[in-house]
Amino acid sequence: MSDVLELAAVSVVRGAKTLLNKVDWQVKEGERWVILGPNGAGKTTLLQIAAARLHPTSGVAGILEEILGSVDVFELRPRIGLSSAALANQIPGHETVLNVVVTAAYGVTGRWREGYEKADERRAFRLLNDWGMGPFLNRAFASLSEGERKRVQIARALMTDPELLLLDEPAAGLDLGGREDLVHRLSELAGDESAPAIVLVTHHLEEVPPGFTHAMLLRDSNVVAAGPLAGVLTAEHLSKTFGVELDVTVNAGRYTATARR
Ligand SMILES: Nc1ncnc2c1ncn2[C@@H]1O[C@H](COP(=O)(O)OP(=O)(O)OP(=O)(O)O)[C@@H](O)[C@H]1O
Ligand SMILES: [Mg+2]
Repeated sequence: MSDVLELAAVSVVRGAKTLLNKVDWQVKEGERWVILGPNGAGKTTLLQIAAARLHPTSGVAGILEEILGSVDVFELRPRIGLSSAALANQIPGHETVLNVVVTAAYGVTGRWREGYEKADERRAFRLLNDWGMGPFLNRAFASLSEGERKRVQIARALMTDPELLLLDEPAAGLDLGGREDLVHRLSELAGDESAPAIVLVTHHLEEVPPGFTHAMLLRDSNVVAAGPLAGVLTAEHLSKTFGVELDVTVNAGRYTATARR
């Protein structure tokens, strides 16, 4: 299996603040990672590096067997699907659902040939159907519920058939039903052998989809633990990460954490 991500001693420093401190991390093809940690731990910063949208201050970031800093990021970025609040905020509210997804392809193909646009539209349509958004193609993005928007964003992230899928808090703002629906869909995606390597950022242990294989815990810009899921998501590691004494239970592949009294 080849490396999808290979980070060696990656640090990000802004002024006096260290956002990431000497992070080592390897993600291989077929792996499904979850990254957990409190607010400000550095999760989004790490995802920005993995998305080739931010360069390390020091250390080496290998992404899809290219070294960040010695590769044209505009060739690398279409190979990476990203869904994040920052990207969603850039989507014009009047844009139709189909357009939100199909435009993700233009970075690759350009708007230069009608044939490509039709093929792109068919792919966007299929992805939206897969994510339960088939009936919403012509709706304005701004008119969607939060849960519907999240599913459109994931369909968009998958549009370029990426080799790496990065999801920054895809369940934020969802109600219980919406969260459960998304966790189920992500679990199905995790089980799909043709799906890209996946990295999912969340605050909540309950949002870890069954079938995910690896986890990283971040606290104050440092990695607390990283590796195969079951060995990382322990009460000891999670208590240290969140600074609260936690009990952790696992039931049918779903994790729950509660404060110890
Ligand atoms: N340009 C900057 N200058 C100084 N500090 C910054 C800068 N950008 C981000 N930070 C800080 O770096 C820390 C890590 O930010 P990051 O967004 O990676 O955290 P996070 O783990 O994603 O948090 P959250 O769970 O709230 O999304 C935060 O404390 C943030 O305020
Ligand atoms: Mg964040």
